[in-house]
Amino acid sequence: MSAYPAALATDIVTDSGFQLSLRPIRPDDAALLERFHQRLSSQSIYKRYFSLHPVLSEHELRYLTEVDYVTRFAYVVEYLGELIGVGRFDRIPETSVAEVAFIVSDEFHHLGIGLMLLERLADVAWSLGITTFCAETQADNRSMMGVFLASGFVVKTRMEDEIISARFSIEPTEASRASRARHSRVPHEVVNEEEAR
Ligand SMILES: CC(C)(COP(=O)(O)OP(=O)(O)OC[C@H]1O[C@@H](n2cnc3c(N)ncnc32)[C@H](O)[C@@H]1OP(=O)(O)O)[C@@H](O)C(=O)NCCC(=O)NCCS
Repeated sequence: MSAYPAALATDIVTDSGFQLSLRPIRPDDAALLERFHQRLSSQSIYKRYFSLHPVLSEHELRYLTEVDYVTRFAYVVEYLGELIGVGRFDRIPETSVAEVAFIVSDEFHHLGIGLMLLERLADVAWSLGITTFCAETQADNRSMMGVFLASGFVVKTRMEDEIISARFSIEPTEASRASRARHSRVPHEVVNEEEAR
């Protein structure tokens, strides 16, 4: 495992004023992740795991929290000491493609957290030589497709058996930068006024 990338941790604030922390996941997040999962609606779990999966096993908790920060990476979003969102990528071995997955607590949907996670994951992945993200999502998952489309990346899709396979280059382009600049709803970093002076 590579060293924990502590420099990627930051405080962020949503448009509506929620003060959140964003940081790479750690092995000691297993208990927080278990509680986060227990609070999710069955619809959200189904959309993320494609099955009713009310409890994460110990093996899954270890797998999801123990990443190497190079081929496997996850960001968590924390609010008042609890997790409220997770976004991750897993590089497909021997390729420059990574599969992404997201889940945000139901009560924090539509605040731009999903899009922020995608943008931040793309930055990390690109710096590690990953050029392309792919994901599978259910055909009626408008929120997930909305996040992909709002990113400004050029998303190609293929549908089979009610599952959409999405794939897009994460190379920063004028279009993706312009698209980010327009996203006023996406949580932004808290500026420390002392440091800003
Ligand atoms: C998919 C999911 C992660 C999105 O999280 P979220 O924090 O609500 O996402 P955002 O607020 O960034 O964006 C979602 C929505 O805003 C839209 N959106 C986001 N930013 C936008 C912007 N700047 N401009 C316009 N639209 C934007 C998207 O179209 C989408 O539409 P909706 O909220 O009206 O449905 C969340 O719904 C979830 O956890 N779902 C269950 C698990 C899941 O489906 N995972 C995907 C399988 S990998």
